[in-house]
Amino acid sequence: DTLAVIIKGKDYESVKWVDPRLGGLLEKAIFQGDFKGEAGETLVFYPLEGFDRYIVSSIGDEGLEGFRKAVANIVLKAMSISKKLLIHIPPVNGIEPGDAVEQAGLTIEITMYNPGWRYKVKEKKPPKLEKVLVNIRNSINNLETRLYRGKIIGEAVNYARDIGNAPSSEMNPEGIEEKARELAREYGLGLRILHLDDLRREGLNGVIAVGSGGGVPPRLVILEYKGREGKEWDLAVVGKTVTFDAGGLDLKPASAMADMKFDKCGGAAALGVIKAVAELKLPVNIVAALPAVENLPGPKAYKPRDVIKMYKGLTIEIGNTDAEGRIILADTLSYIEKNYKPSRIIDLATLTGAIVVALGNYAIGLFSTSDKLANDLIWIGEYTGERLWRMPLWKEYYEQLESEVADLNNIGGRPAGAITAAAFLSKFIEETKEWVHLDIAGTAWVQEKGPKKPYYPKGATGIGVRLITYYIIKKLLNQ
Ligand code: BES
Ligand code: MN
Ligand code: ZN
Repeated sequence: DTLAVIIKGKDYESVKWVDPRLGGLLEKAIFQGDFKGEAGETLVFYPLEGFDRYIVSSIGDEGLEGFRKAVANIVLKAMSISKKLLIHIPPVNGIEPGDAVEQAGLTIEITMYNPGWRYKVKEKKPPKLEKVLVNIRNSINNLETRLYRGKIIGEAVNYARDIGNAPSSEMNPEGIEEKARELAREYGLGLRILHLDDLRREGLNGVIAVGSGGGVPPRLVILEYKGREGKEWDLAVVGKTVTFDAGGLDLKPASAMADMKFDKCGGAAALGVIKAVAELKLPVNIVAALPAVENLPGPKAYKPRDVIKMYKGLTIEIGNTDAEGRIILADTLSYIEKNYKPSRIIDLATLTGAIVVALGNYAIGLFSTSDKLANDLIWIGEYTGERLWRMPLWKEYYEQLESEVADLNNIGGRPAGAITAAAFLSKFIEETKEWVHLDIAGTAWVQEKGPKKPYYPKGATGIGVRLITYYIIKKLLNQ
């Protein structure tokens, strides 16, 4: 019932393709100045012949991201009025047909996201598109595979969104374990869960300390995916999984606490990446690690000025119990490095309010000791629209972490708060040449000032899933 056409601005070729079907209405809209061909512009036409309606959406000058937004705008519009949608993708300058089809599949999936975590008893289900078809004229033969690869990655994004959005009472450390078990069962993954006694035996005292104020005991959840021969681990993905961050005894004020169920979005992304990679059967060996804790001020909670001997042997002084993410990540990074020796590590964390101050809601803060991995990821960020901005890790910043009584303090004061957090993490990595830390505090869910995109719903964005999955596909596998 609906034909949608994506056009690049007022690009003559694509206008010429669609306009005869519209009886010249698009030319008229352009002539009158109603349609300028900018990113995000979307019009609906009702010519007397042909389809019930036509949707025209423009890419503007935003490249592949403009393309995704055009697809998303079409889907949003069509969802409210149509049942069966056919999206036509004409040749677009600067966008490969394979990329276009794959990103269309992906964007359709993440725009139609239907939260599996809503509890409204009376809510009427919104009308749904029964069928979406993508039409492209090209002789490349793997286009269908590309379309479905996009759809699968989109499903993994939605899966991560559901985990991020789930209330913390349900998605507590036990809920996270259950999610990992499900994934392991479904895809035949290796699963290791370190419960409290295991954490004690291993000396993962940072994870234990942060989790000690919670009602549900902490655990370290590890998933192993083997997609190729050989024992080496190509990549470890470590995700901060604080299922609720009340701040601990250094309690947050109510307004700052309100959104802290999203403090598990790093771990949710790590699970999403594993799901996508397993579903696509990619020939890589990757491990995901999620330190899952509640940061609450319970009677056994860790306290300011406590000193903790970390897994790696370094001691830390607790300057603030609300700087908990770096503590559980530090232990997890050293544990994974020692026991898996992965070729590279990417960690994702809603780590600091300071990165939101520095970069707002449209860039992930990237910290790395490896130019290669940093630049590869920055490139992928431009490709996926999950954009990154690199921050420094200069040695001068490390002075801010000095402690009178321990090897390190867990806070470095207000200046450069995101950098000192990353600097803290780097102290717990020794052998891994390629390590990147991604601070996703500004981008993991839709906050007051964004990120706003037509393919983002309210709540968790699923950030990191597309970035890391495409890093694996394009940079590790050259597919
Ligand atoms: N989870 C928060 C960081 C955060 C804040 C994420 C706002 C998203 C939005 C983190 O655990 C935290 O509390 N960080 C403190 C560190 C401070 C005590 C040094 C912060 O950023 O205020
Ligand atoms: Mn905190
Ligand atoms: Zn936190």
